[in-house]
Amino acid sequence: MSSPSPVPPVQLHIYPAKVLRQKAKPIDKFTDELRQVIARMFEVMDVEEGIGLAAPQVGISLRLFILDVPENAKRGSLATSIPPSASPGRMVFINPVLRFEGPVEPMDEGCLSLPEITGEVLRPPIVHVTALDEFGKPFTLTAGGLLSRCIQHETDHLDGVLIIDKMTQPSRVKNRIAVKKLEND
Ligand code: NI
Repeated sequence: MSSPSPVPPVQLHIYPAKVLRQKAKPIDKFTDELRQVIARMFEVMDVEEGIGLAAPQVGISLRLFILDVPENAKRGSLATSIPPSASPGRMVFINPVLRFEGPVEPMDEGCLSLPEITGEVLRPPIVHVTALDEFGKPFTLTAGGLLSRCIQHETDHLDGVLIIDKMTQPSRVKNRIAVKKLEND
């Protein structure tokens, strides 16, 4: 018989779950339990076939997200110091702080917490990030392309912001019924 796991349940939360609208708290303890949560998040992201997942999306209101962006998209990034613990494609961002560069441009985005919904979101093309890895070690990164998109999308989750808040007007209209359906489920 095994002892009960100290790790809270890590499962995908779908809009309009309240946790998706909360401002998440910074992380100040880099424990084995935190790293177990992160490992579970990677499992959930793999099952759902996502390329990014933020802690609030699994019911945990902490400033943490993970990415598994395809390598060809990562090569478009202008990395200054890649997180030392990151395996190829897989990255962990804790307490990220972003600085943006360039005029906003549209790109199609989806979100695991908003099934059936995709639409154009306006964001600046370049992002400069400072964050901590799962051991509390700081790193910096400058990203463009899909990697920049994902970093901005996941950081929005930490502030309770979703793509439906930032979509262009035509995309809002296109998704109106799907959003209402999720709200009424
Ligand atoms: Ni999302």
